[in-house]
Amino acid sequence: MSALEVRDLRKAYGAVEAVAGISFTVEQGEVFGLLGPNGAGKTTTVEILEGYRSRDGGEVTVLGVDPAHGGSALRERIGVVLQTSELPAALTVREVHRMFAGYYERPRDIDEVIGLVGLEEKAGARVKTLSGGQKRRLDLGIALVGDPELIFLDEPTTGFDPAARRGAWELVRSLRALGKTILLTTHYLDEAQQLADRVAVIREGLIVNIGSPADLIGVAPTVEIRYREAGRDVVIETDEPTRVLAGLTGAAVAAGRELESLEVVRPSLEDVYLDLIDGESDEAP
Ligand SMILES: Nc1ncnc2c1ncn2[C@@H]1O[C@H](COP(=O)(O)OP(=O)(O)OP(=O)(O)O)[C@@H](O)[C@H]1O
Ligand SMILES: [Mg+2]
Repeated sequence: MSALEVRDLRKAYGAVEAVAGISFTVEQGEVFGLLGPNGAGKTTTVEILEGYRSRDGGEVTVLGVDPAHGGSALRERIGVVLQTSELPAALTVREVHRMFAGYYERPRDIDEVIGLVGLEEKAGARVKTLSGGQKRRLDLGIALVGDPELIFLDEPTTGFDPAARRGAWELVRSLRALGKTILLTTHYLDEAQQLADRVAVIREGLIVNIGSPADLIGVAPTVEIRYREAGRDVVIETDEPTRVLAGLTGAAVAAGRELESLEVVRPSLEDVYLDLIDGESDEAP
């Protein structure tokens, strides 16, 4: 059984078709990333899978169950970091963890979870005194407190400082090593590249590409070869860099010329991503 099966998922808000027919499968133990610009439909998709939002069409199973009818039995088995959360401001970090632990039959040890997300020093601090990044770590702790098999992380590291982001990456890797399945959304291409086994790029409610980060970079059609000749820059875009380069360098060597400032530039995942979502910019980043 796959952890997640999504077939032709659809959801509209009035005239806005937020999710316009999305299909993908996530295997157990996989880290799957959803990437896409603001308003692409990532949170809508994730919230339907979490059972927090109804769908208009399509078939969805989460750990073999339809999340629309999963009830508390399913909720016990999943952990959720929402894109935005409201936690009781007057409670402490430990109290909030204890409160959520109460919803589960077999919660993890609270202090262990607080340690996992790096909030030991803030265990006795009230929620309202936490910084933005510390609140996000608290969200992550709450998602882990039930020891879930499947974890949904909607922009889990937004607002993290670089060290905290590395810490969260380590945490995701250790969860993966424990065999947990993780669906995460992110705007950080390096995060997707670091963490995700596979990535789906969503644009305007549709998947425009899906594959491993390496696959996505691999489909990039062109490599750029650049050099200077007679005082001007030459840029050649090619999908056969070896052959083109051999021709160029062979000719230059034969003529006793140097190809000034020669470089071969491969696109990064970010280049590929920007290419895929090109033409979509109705909301500010
Ligand atoms: N409750 C709602 N009512 C009306 N429209 C909504 C609602 N929630 C989302 N939308 C619209 O649905 C579309 C998809 O939104 P969604 O939150 O799924 O995007 P997203 O990919 O998560 O974006 P972001 O990267 O900004 O978090 C957007 O056009 C948004 O304005
Ligand atoms: Mg979102």
